Amino acid sequence: MLRIRGKNKQGKDGSGELSESELMARIDMTGLPRHIAIIMDGNGRWARARGMPRTFGHRYGMDSLREAVRTSAELGIKVLTVYAFSTENWKRPPEEVNVLMGLLVEYVHKEIDELCANNVVVRAIGDISRLPDSAREALRYAFERSRNNTGMVLNIALNYGGRSELVRAARQIAEKVRDGRVQLEGIDERLVGDHLYTAGQPDPDLLIRPAGDYRVSNFLLWQMAYAEFWFCPTYWPDFRRRHLLQAIYDFQQRDRRFGGIKEGGK
Ligand code: FPP
Repeated sequence: MLRIRGKNKQGKDGSGELSESELMARIDMTGLPRHIAIIMDGNGRWARARGMPRTFGHRYGMDSLREAVRTSAELGIKVLTVYAFSTENWKRPPEEVNVLMGLLVEYVHKEIDELCANNVVVRAIGDISRLPDSAREALRYAFERSRNNTGMVLNIALNYGGRSELVRAARQIAEKVRDGRVQLEGIDERLVGDHLYTAGQPDPDLLIRPAGDYRVSNFLLWQMAYAEFWFCPTYWPDFRRRHLLQAIYDFQQRDRRFGGIKEGGK
C-alpha cells in the first residue's frame, strides 16, 4: 500500500507518502528482489471508469509496462515477469483477444530498441505455439534482437497458466522416466524446477498485484512458494514508477524466514 505508517517514514510533504526520490534514497540497492513478478490487473476497470472500451485500458497499460521495465532494468533487477495473457484469457470476447495480440506486436516493435539499449533479454513463458502467427513472429524478432543482451530478463507470460506449466513439467519428467533418462528417485524439487519455463532463473521474491484483488490467479504457482506479496488498489494503467519503488521498499521491510526462525529467535 502506498501509505506508510510511522513518523520516521513520513515523506517531506507530510502526506505520509514518500516521493520517488525519497523512496530511491531509502531503497537498499544491496537487498533488491532478484525477481519481480507483476499481475498487470485492472485495465478493463480503468477504461470503464472513464467510459471507454476495456481495450483502451490495455493500451494505456502498455505505458505502465514500459515504465516498470525501464525502472527495473535501471535498478538492476535480474528478472521481471509480467502476466500479459493467461490460459484463461481465451474466454474473453474474440475482439479483446485480438486487441491484446495486436498490442503485443506493437509493444515489441515500439520497445525493442529501448529494451536492447537497456540490455534486456526478452523471453516468453507459456505455450506460445497457440498464439496467432503475427504474435509469434513479433516474439521471434524480439528473442533474436535481444538474445545477446546480458542484463535483465523480461519474461512475458503469454498463454501462461501455472497449472498447465506443472502438467507440462510432469509429462516431460514422466517421459524421461519411461525412457530411462531419469530414475524415479532422481525426481526432486530441483528437477521439477528445471522443467518449468523459468528454469535457471531465481524464483520471484516479490509479487505485485495492482487493482485491489488479493489472489494469485494461476500465476507462477510453483515459483511463488516464498514470494512476498504486495497489493495496491491502483489500476495497472495508473501504476507508475513510484508504485514499483514503494513495493520494493516495502519488500525490504519484510522479515523473510523461509519457514525458519530468526537467528537467536524463538
Ligand atoms: C488484466 O486486466 C490485464 C490483461 C489481461 C492484459 C495485460 C496487457 C497489457 C498491460 C498490455 C499489453 C502488453 C503486452 C506485452 C501484450 P483486466 O482486463 O483483467 O482488467 P479488469 O480486471 O479491470 O477487467
